[in-house]
Amino acid sequence: MILVLDFGGQYNQLIARRVRENNVYCEVHTITDGKVSADKNIKSGLGTEINFSDIEKLKPEGIILTGGPQSVYKDDAFLPDKKIFDLNVPVLGICYGAQAMTHLLGGEVKPAETSEYGKTEIKISGDSKLFSGVSKETVAWMSHTDRIFKLPENFVATAESESCPVAAAENAEKNLYAVQFHPEVLHTVEGQKIFSNFVNICNCRRDWTADSFIEDTVKDLKNKIGAGKVLCALSGGVDSSVAAVLLSKAVGKNLTCVFVDHGLLRKNEAEEVEDVFKKFDLNFIRVDASENFLNALQGVTDPEKKRKIIGEKFIRVFEEVAGKIGAIDFLVQGTIYPDVIESGLGKSAVIKSHHNVGGLPEGINFREIVEPLRMLFKDEVREVGRKSGLPEKLVSRQPFPGPGLGIRIIGEITADKIKIVRDADAIYREEIDKAGIAGELGQYFAALTNMKSVGVMGDGRTYDYAIVLRAVLTSDFMTAESAPIDWKILNKVANRIVNEVKGVNRVLYDCTSKPPATIEFE
Ligand code: XMP
Repeated sequence: MILVLDFGGQYNQLIARRVRENNVYCEVHTITDGKVSADKNIKSGLGTEINFSDIEKLKPEGIILTGGPQSVYKDDAFLPDKKIFDLNVPVLGICYGAQAMTHLLGGEVKPAETSEYGKTEIKISGDSKLFSGVSKETVAWMSHTDRIFKLPENFVATAESESCPVAAAENAEKNLYAVQFHPEVLHTVEGQKIFSNFVNICNCRRDWTADSFIEDTVKDLKNKIGAGKVLCALSGGVDSSVAAVLLSKAVGKNLTCVFVDHGLLRKNEAEEVEDVFKKFDLNFIRVDASENFLNALQGVTDPEKKRKIIGEKFIRVFEEVAGKIGAIDFLVQGTIYPDVIESGLGKSAVIKSHHNVGGLPEGINFREIVEPLRMLFKDEVREVGRKSGLPEKLVSRQPFPGPGLGIRIIGEITADKIKIVRDADAIYREEIDKAGIAGELGQYFAALTNMKSVGVMGDGRTYDYAIVLRAVLTSDFMTAESAPIDWKILNKVANRIVNEVKGVNRVLYDCTSKPPATIEFE
């Protein structure tokens, strides 16, 4: 395993992903001087914060020091214990990490005359193992305002850019490598090769795959749970589905999955989820609570109130069903690694509620939470899902919010409006699939505006709702751009919706980015 020490840079999760692309397990931790938060679910048994003696115990095959926003020469800078360079383990320092290595080993880091940001040409010299097979002139992503002015003893520079004489340096004998640029960012054209070289330098076995993850996890779950009873709230989303399948492999019928259908799912979704899970070895309970939800939402127009009601109700229905199952030992959560890392700096992870909307059910007694996906990134979760036998359609699903169509109907929710938005959305998704562009879009869906307008149909005047189509390009969902979908496709969708969905006479396309708009409408 490779240990990634996180100093707060914005690309740090990417570093872990690049390592894992080489089929090598890695964990991201931050350093601390004292207090360590235990986290039994992370393979090493350590929390997100660790100290030097934890690092020794971890026995990593390699260490990567990440980028970060600070300056290494300032008093309050986060710095690792200098002893990590004497562990006889290869270390790769990236950006701030490279400067931290330089500073701690007796070199000098100061503000650069010219800071570099963006794609930058670098020239590689010598025959560094880190750059084996990398072109001598290549493009790297830079983002720094400090730079290395003097190298520590026994270090040589191995790359330069126009304004940065030390774009990379190393002490090859001790396997200490420093790069000023960011090999983890895809704009660094040959970055993946650099990670692969580092993995070779560390002598890692490259045997961490989705299959080995499934095998190890199922074994661990069996040991941990024994004959205990496990409860899982299934939403039909990727994370809870993959978590449920892993548990089913480990404990079979001792797992009960409760699928609360709040009546705000997409067309045929509830049936599809049921069809998938009926095939696995587990107890599957589907609860049709749509009337219950609809009654609770009657007359409510405030978006936040709607969200709260749906979240609350979900928990209550789940608790009610769980109450009938009998004693429970473990509750499954679909927490994934970005949730763990983002909680950062030693705080325990924010527990993701099973529907992301209402928090943990208080009315259910259980001994412990199990989070089998706690160490996986989203694309790894999908791969584990595929290898576990879940259908591609479910595994590659776009995100769908916990409150479902409830936040895609502006204003009051009624049964009629749910039918309208559901049918329009199904047509939209069908046409996007047919056009073969689904993979290019971050998220796309139809929403129902609360606006009626005048139209003409045949010889008659209509006064009906307007549907709005949304499609965004995004990777992090924190920011997004409106997707420039081909007009012909949009036109076809609009035609079909006004012809096939009763109650709609107008279709709009949302061209707003986030910010200032959000992806969802409420
Ligand atoms: P916004 O609308 O805030 O959405 O731009 C960003 C992303 O989050 C999803 N979303 C939710 N997901 N529960 C969820 O599980 C929720 O309550 C929720 N609200 C928004 C949204 O679909 C988008 O992907």
